[in-house]
Amino acid sequence: MTPGTKLIAINNPNNPTGALMDRAMLEEIAAIAREAGAWILCDEVYRGTDQEGDGMTASIADIYEKGISTAGMSKAYSLAGLRLGWIAGPREVIEAVAIHRDYDTISVGMIDDHFAALALENREQVLARSQRITLGNLAILEAWVEQEPRISWVKPRSGTTTLLKYDLPMTSREFCVALLKETGVMFTPGSALGMERYVRIGYANGPEVLKQGLGLVSGFLATQG
Ligand SMILES: Cc1ncc(COP(=O)(O)O)c(C=O)c1O
Repeated sequence: MTPGTKLIAINNPNNPTGALMDRAMLEEIAAIAREAGAWILCDEVYRGTDQEGDGMTASIADIYEKGISTAGMSKAYSLAGLRLGWIAGPREVIEAVAIHRDYDTISVGMIDDHFAALALENREQVLARSQRITLGNLAILEAWVEQEPRISWVKPRSGTTTLLKYDLPMTSREFCVALLKETGVMFTPGSALGMERYVRIGYANGPEVLKQGLGLVSGFLATQG
């Protein structure tokens, strides 16, 4: 942050780490932004997947007068194929965005709109299903990390992804390519995310797929000398 900072862009809950900024921390960031008159743009596409409370962390648009929140159907609602999202913020921003959208998009697909409306009308059930999957799967992943001597982590508090630190003498790309070739399991190399010696796992698949995949990773790690 400098006195000339115009916008602070954050992502909460975070992909790839699964870190979560709570209301108190967001208020601290808002106070810093306020000093410079800066906007805060927060990508909240994972909002609704917290491992704690009702799963919904605070939204920057509700906290800061120059806060802009974006989110959509693709993560907590598990409906990425709908290609539909939203933005919340001060009226002047929304009006400017609406003009821009008229120019480049005109309208979302009406079928997408229909199914997104159905999901949002039934949001309690849809979000409860997502939370069942993410809470259950994170418990499976945690048990695996605890018994895997070469893997360590900071346990995520939200989202569907996290970073695993591996204790092996190879780059994350070498690790991921070898793992994919030998087992069919695909992680994202941390080097692609500026986090070398880590890999990113997405853990929101079916529990059986997750368990099977982790078993394959254990087998791979056991062959690494
Ligand atoms: C942090 C974050 N924001 C936005 C997106 C994009 O979401 P959508 O598929 O709804 O465009 C993703 C997708 O991976 C994401 O991880």
